[in-house]
Amino acid sequence: MKKLAELYRGKAKTVYTTENPDLLILEFRNDTSAFDGLRIEQLDRKGMVNNKFNYFIMTKLHEAGIPTQVEALLSDNEVLVKKLQMIPVECVVRNRAAGSLVKRLGVEEGQVLNPPTFELFLKNDALHDPMVNDSHCKAFGWASDDQLAKMKELSFKINTILTDLFDKAGLILVDYKLEFGLFKGEITLGDEFSPDGCRLWEKSTLKKMDKDRFRQGLGGVIEAYEEVAKRIGVCL
Ligand code: TMP
Ligand code: ASP
Repeated sequence: MKKLAELYRGKAKTVYTTENPDLLILEFRNDTSAFDGLRIEQLDRKGMVNNKFNYFIMTKLHEAGIPTQVEALLSDNEVLVKKLQMIPVECVVRNRAAGSLVKRLGVEEGQVLNPPTFELFLKNDALHDPMVNDSHCKAFGWASDDQLAKMKELSFKINTILTDLFDKAGLILVDYKLEFGLFKGEITLGDEFSPDGCRLWEKSTLKKMDKDRFRQGLGGVIEAYEEVAKRIGVCL
C-alpha cells in the first residue's frame, strides 16, 4: 500500500490517504510535543519506537476483542489503519493521581484511585484541551449517549488488559488517553497507544518511564520508552 496525499499533519504523526478510501497510512515522526505544542523537539528513534510500541499494544487489544483501527505494520515508521470518523473528545482513565488531576484537585501524586476515574477532554490545543462532560458532548453533537457509553466501556476494558500487561513487566499504568472514532458506524479505537499518551512508573522505584521525562526535562526519554518496550516484549 502506497501513500497518496498528505491528509493531515499532527504534532507527532502525519496521516496519508491511500488508493483505498477506507484505509490511511499513519507516519510516526520523531517530533515530540508537550504542553499542547508549545514545546516541540526531535528525539532520535522516537517515531520507530512509538510505531512498533503502538502496533504491539493494538494487536494485544484486538486479540482481546477491542475494535481497533490497526490493519498492518508497513515499515519502521508507518502503519496501515482504517479511516475513522474521529470523535473530537479524548478519554482519560486514571489508576493513580498525577498530572492535571493533581493540579486541579490538589491531591497527592501517586494516590491510588479505586475505582479508576474516567474523564473527557475536548481535543483543542488552542484551548489546552478543556475538560468536558457528557452533556457538552451531546449538546455540541460530538458524541451520543450510546457512543459515550461504548467509549467508557471500552476504556475500562482496555484498562484491565493493559494494567495486567504492564504489571507483569514491573510497571504501573498510572493513566492514559484514548481517542475513538467511527468505522462503518462502530466505535473503534484510533490514534495511538504509546508512552507519549500514558504514564508508566517502574513498580519498585516509581521512576517515570513515559513522556513526563520530556515534559519535566528529566532526560533519557527514548531510553525509557525502549526499556518499557523491551520489558513488554516489543521487537524494536
Ligand atoms: P493529564 O494528567 O495531563 O490530564 O493527562 C492524563 C493522561 O492522558 C497522561 O498520560 C497524558 C495523556 N494525555 C495526552 O496524551 N494528551 C492529551 O491531550 C491529554 C489531555 C492527556
Ligand atoms: N500531547 C499534548 C502535546 O503534545 C499534551 C502533552 O503531552 O503535554 O502537547
